[in-house]
Amino acid sequence: MDRISSAREFQSVCDSLRIQGKTIGLVPTMGALHDGHKQLMTLAKQQCDVAAVSIFVNALQFDNPVDLEKYPRTIEADLEFAKDLGVDVVFTPKSQEMHPEPILFHLEVDRLSQALEGAFRPGHFAGVVTVVAKLFILAGRCRAYFGEKDFQQLAIISRMVEEMHFPVEIVPVPIVRDERGLALSSRNMRLTPDQLVSALALSRSLFSGRDAVAAGEKNPEKVEELMSEELSREISGIAKSDLARLDYALVVDPSTLTRPERIEGPVRLLIAARVGAVRLIDNIGA
Ligand code: PAJ
Repeated sequence: MDRISSAREFQSVCDSLRIQGKTIGLVPTMGALHDGHKQLMTLAKQQCDVAAVSIFVNALQFDNPVDLEKYPRTIEADLEFAKDLGVDVVFTPKSQEMHPEPILFHLEVDRLSQALEGAFRPGHFAGVVTVVAKLFILAGRCRAYFGEKDFQQLAIISRMVEEMHFPVEIVPVPIVRDERGLALSSRNMRLTPDQLVSALALSRSLFSGRDAVAAGEKNPEKVEELMSEELSREISGIAKSDLARLDYALVVDPSTLTRPERIEGPVRLLIAARVGAVRLIDNIGA
């Protein structure tokens, strides 16, 4: 496995791989790799000649400095993890390499980014698309793997590729959960054992919403109420301060990310909540 830190070098390695006729599967990550990331890397490896993983904690997408500071950084373990999966290239740029100071250029996102996560994390998606666009420019023509875990991110990046004509095929990857239903996330590392139990409320809430839709509930607001009740349910033995606190529980049309008047076709249920100081998101199709 090759580890590359220079942007220009990563770009020329990708160029020469393509000249050799090889297809590239790009997996952008912020590290603290877990089995969710593993799924993306495994698919990249299966579907492309070369799997390239980027590991970069992108300061531009953090609206909260404490969240950035506390974001888990486990580079040595990440390199082992990627190597064991047969990843061919790992790109680990320094911040100054990805975003040379002073930063004069920044992508902005209209509409899709203002609701949901965008409303709670101002500037977050501008930071995401800016770094992802840079990664696409460096990697060049490729397939790029993104998890449905970050459903709004996936929708925004898919739209960016279409609108900006990036020579990139986005491959969406279903959410990987643990055996209790918790969506895997690098942020889970920051939860105490009690908070991990509280965090299960997110998926429980989604499952109850999905079951209501499957049972014929057509009113999105009813489903949202049910989801928020399920999230707020007390858990015996867990301190109030460790319970999940809801930011939003919403039923949306998967392509517009807005609430339909009635549930007629497929919808996506999205939830965001804070457990202690950690903000978690999850979603499910229904
Ligand atoms: P990060 O949170 O490290 O996630 C990297 C990729 O892994 C994303 O596409 C995310 O959706 C996917 N992923 C995370 N947990 C998952 C799970 N449980 N199941 C399936 N996929 C999962 O998302 C980012 O980094 C950043 O915003 C990034 C796109 C790298 C830009 O900085």
